[in-house]
Amino acid sequence: MSDQVLSRDDLPVTTEGDVVTVRRRAQAVAQARGLGTFAVAAVTTAASELARNTLTHGRGGDASVEAVARDGRQGVRLTFRDQGPGIADLSRALAGGFSTARSLGLGLSGSRRLVDEFDIDTTPGKGTVVTVIKWARF
Ligand SMILES: Nc1ncnc2c1ncn2[C@@H]1O[C@H](COP(=O)(O)OP(=O)(O)OP(=O)(O)O)[C@@H](O)[C@H]1O
Ligand SMILES: [Mg+2]
Repeated sequence: MSDQVLSRDDLPVTTEGDVVTVRRRAQAVAQARGLGTFAVAAVTTAASELARNTLTHGRGGDASVEAVARDGRQGVRLTFRDQGPGIADLSRALAGGFSTARSLGLGLSGSRRLVDEFDIDTTPGKGTVVTVIKWARF
């Protein structure tokens, strides 16, 4: 099932400022798609956490912020790509409380809970692609 893509912005994720830009863009598209206040906050937080992971763990990469539709439903889709080290133990990273950066290890698990769809494609030594979707309620 492929989603209809209404708009797409490709943004670099190579500086702290880029993380802020991705966060703002995700927020703007979510609002424009008609997501409610809570859903906008949720996807904005996920955008920030995932972009930060791309920057710090993935050694930088890029992000796409897309307005999407499926069966008349409106949403925002975020894709984060890097060619960093990949995630060696994905189930551990997704469980939460695990960090290779002496941080809280809550970015991935928290983001997963905040969105409607969450997908990770990671290959050790090659990189990571994370895709999430947040839908507006009917
Ligand atoms: N894009 C990525 N590339 C490589 N490893 C990643 C990537 N994203 C996450 N990881 C790995 O998964 C772990 C968990 O990620 P998560 O975002 O939950 O925690 P964190 O970034 O370490 O800390 P926090 O986000 O709470 O500040 C990271 O410590 C890192 O080892
Ligand atoms: Mg993180």
